[in-house]
Amino acid sequence: LSVHHGPEPILVNFVAGSRGKWKIDRITSVRGDTLPSAGRLDMIEGTELDDNPDTQWSLRGFTSNPRYTNRSELTSLVARQEDLGRPTSLHVALIPIRKRSAWWGLPQDERRIIFEEQSHHVRIGFEYLPSISRRLHHSRDLGQPFDFLTWFEYAPEDSSAFEQLVARHRRTREWSFVDREVDIRLIRD
Ligand code: HEM
Repeated sequence: LSVHHGPEPILVNFVAGSRGKWKIDRITSVRGDTLPSAGRLDMIEGTELDDNPDTQWSLRGFTSNPRYTNRSELTSLVARQEDLGRPTSLHVALIPIRKRSAWWGLPQDERRIIFEEQSHHVRIGFEYLPSISRRLHHSRDLGQPFDFLTWFEYAPEDSSAFEQLVARHRRTREWSFVDREVDIRLIRD
C-alpha cells in the first residue's frame, strides 16, 4: 500500500481527444459550463508534452500534501485506501470542480470547519473505502479553469455506491461553495 501523501508533487495532464487509455462514456455539467465532448481521455504524468494534434481540451493539475486532514483522519485513510490502477477499476470518474471566491476568501480554520465538522467530507468518503480509490489534483494555483481535478476509480459493481457518494457530497454545505462542476465518466476498455 503506497498512497501518495508525500511532499513530492506529480504534475498531471488530462488530455481529451482521439486517444488515451479510457473511453469517455459521458460528460455532464453538474453546475456551470460543461466541457466539449471527446472520444477518449489520457492521463499524462510528469512534464511529458501532449503532442496529440487531435486534442479537444486538456486540464492540468498536481498532487500535493494534505491541507485539511488531521492526524487521526490521515492515519485511517492511509490504512484503508487503495491505489489507483487496480485491474478491477474499469470505471472512472474525473470531476473537475471550482469553488467560489467566497470560499477562497475564508481563513484555513473556517474552511476546515465547513469541509469536515459541518460537511463530513472525510467521514462520508471513508464509508466508500476501499472500493473507491481516488487522487486529488490541485489546479487553481496553475491558473486553470478549475480549482481541483478529482479522480475516482472503481469496479462496475460499485457504481451505485459511487453515485450515492457523490449525491451525499453534493448536498453538503461545502458544495454550496462549488460554482462549476463537470462530471466526466470513463471506461477502461
Ligand atoms: C472516495 C471517498 C472520498 C474520500 C475518502 C475523500 C477524501 C478527501 C480528503 C481527505 C480530502 C482533503 C485532502 C486535504 O487534506 O487537503 C479531500 C478533498 C477533496 N475532495 Fe474528497 N474524498 C472522497 C470523495 C470525493 C468526491 C466523490 C468528490 C467530488 C465529487 C471529492 C472532492 C474533493 C475535493 C474537491 C477536495 C478538495 C477540497 C478543498 O481543498 O477545498 N471527494 N477528499
